[in-house]
Amino acid sequence: MAVERTLSIIKPDAVGKNVIGEIVTRFEKAGLNVVAMKMLHLDDDKAGGFYAEHKERPFFGDLVSFMTSGPVVVQVLEGEDAIAKNRELMGATNPQEAAAGTIRADFAQSIDANAVHGSDSAESAAREVDYFFAADEICPR
Ligand code: TYD
Ligand code: MG
Repeated sequence: MAVERTLSIIKPDAVGKNVIGEIVTRFEKAGLNVVAMKMLHLDDDKAGGFYAEHKERPFFGDLVSFMTSGPVVVQVLEGEDAIAKNRELMGATNPQEAAAGTIRADFAQSIDANAVHGSDSAESAAREVDYFFAADEICPR
C-alpha cells in the first residue's frame, strides 16, 4: 500500500440533507486526511467536463442537471490506499446495492442522486484532483 490522493465530491443531495459533517467524519475515522476542500456550485460546462467519460451514456443529461442543482463540496483525501478506501466507504453506485453502513446505503436515495463521488483509479484521481484544485490549494499534513 502507498499513500495516495483521491478526489471526493459530496453531491447536491447530501449537501441539501445537511450531512457534510457526517460524511467527512467517516473519511477521518477511516484514516483519510482532508488536504483540500471547497464548496462550489457547478455550471453545465464544469460538471459536463468532469463527467466527460460518460458523455455518450443515456443518463448524462440527468447527471449534469443533478450535479448543477445545488452546491457540492469537493475534497482531496490523502492516506494509505486512499482511492480504494474511499470507494469502499462510499459503497456501490446504486444505493440499493450498497453494503450496509456505507455512505450511499445510509445517505443516498437513488442511483442518480447517490450522495458522493470518488475517483476510481490512480489515473482518474490525478485528473480529477487537477480538475478542481491548483497545486497551492492542496495542503499536505
Ligand atoms: P459511475 O462512474 O458508473 O459510478 P460511480 O459514481 O460509482 O463511479 O457513474 C457516475 C455517476 O453517474 C453515478 O454516480 C450516478 C450516475 N449514473 C446514473 O445516473 N445512472 C447509471 O445507470 C449509472 C451507471 C450512473
Ligand atoms: Mg465513476
